[in-house]
Amino acid sequence: MQIDAVKAAYRRYAGFYDALFGPVLQPGRRAVIQSLGCRPGDRVLEVGVGTGLSLPMYPPEVRVTGIDISREMLDKARVRVTRRELANVDALLEMDAEKMDFPDASFDKVVAMYVVSVVRDPARLLEELHRVCKHDGEIFIVNHFRSRNRIVGAVEKALGGFSAQLGFRPDFEMREMLPAGYEGEESRVNMLFTVLRLRNGFAKQGTFPRN
Ligand SMILES: C[S@@+](CC[C@H](N)C(=O)[O-])C[C@H]1O[C@@H](n2cnc3c(N)ncnc32)[C@H](O)[C@@H]1O
Repeated sequence: MQIDAVKAAYRRYAGFYDALFGPVLQPGRRAVIQSLGCRPGDRVLEVGVGTGLSLPMYPPEVRVTGIDISREMLDKARVRVTRRELANVDALLEMDAEKMDFPDASFDKVVAMYVVSVVRDPARLLEELHRVCKHDGEIFIVNHFRSRNRIVGAVEKALGGFSAQLGFRPDFEMREMLPAGYEGEESRVNMLFTVLRLRNGFAKQGTFPRN
């Protein structure tokens, strides 16, 4: 997905995103937040935070920073933070997750919910998630990945031609993002969504193709 197409899609979606994608994507958001295992004071980064549907679910004792490329989606997230008085949200920033301004090793946990099939270069995104995560930190990704079922996979591939209009790639495959030798935990949320949990030390072993 090209960045202008992403911005245009989410500018269109912002007004009705919560109604369209709120409940259907909620099990994955909940599964990630329940798996985080945060300690009080941990710093969490959520990239592609969107309208902030996940924000009320974070434990009050962790510090949360959200970033997104879409100003319109972030505006909705800011309204939610104010309305829900979410004092643990430190900042909501307009920023490209593939090229973040944060120094290396800034966060204990880094989260990407339904973002890897939206960004321009998912492998580049993953490198950035590792860079800003502390060495002993963890990365959590939840997404729909192209089905291994031949018929469903073929339908998703056909829908892939409409990615720019949809604002995401229905035919996104996990291996497009992960380096060879990747070791992480995969757990199914339901028939549609999978959570990936990656320990950051993995990235330092030089297994990323571009390292
Ligand atoms: C499908 S939405 C998911 C939003 C939210 N995580 C959720 O659970 O509803 C994808 C989000 O990723 C954002 N996004 C896409 N590319 C991005 C990038 N390069 N940097 C930051 N955010 C990005 C979009 O603007 C959009 O808000």
